[in-house]
Amino acid sequence: MGTACYVRGGEKVLQEFKRHLGIEVGQTTADGKFSLSCLRCVGACGLAPVVLVGEKVYGRVSPQQVSKIIAEYQEGCVNAETV
Ligand code: FES
Repeated sequence: MGTACYVRGGEKVLQEFKRHLGIEVGQTTADGKFSLSCLRCVGACGLAPVVLVGEKVYGRVSPQQVSKIIAEYQEGCVNAETV
């Protein structure tokens, strides 16, 4: 939720994560798999809006990509590669 991410649609991406996971910022899903946190600038403004899942960085995330990102982790095929 830093300025660059916010200006480039970070709020809509966050809303989509909330909708898909059924939780608010600061909460964890009932199965314990996902927690949602909100941060300020992570120093990758050129990739805004940025999403971090564990140590993996997703750049230029659109709301349409949110379900795909979540599915990566639900299916248990976590890609440990970091950007
Ligand atoms: S504002 Fe999002 S990485 Fe800088």
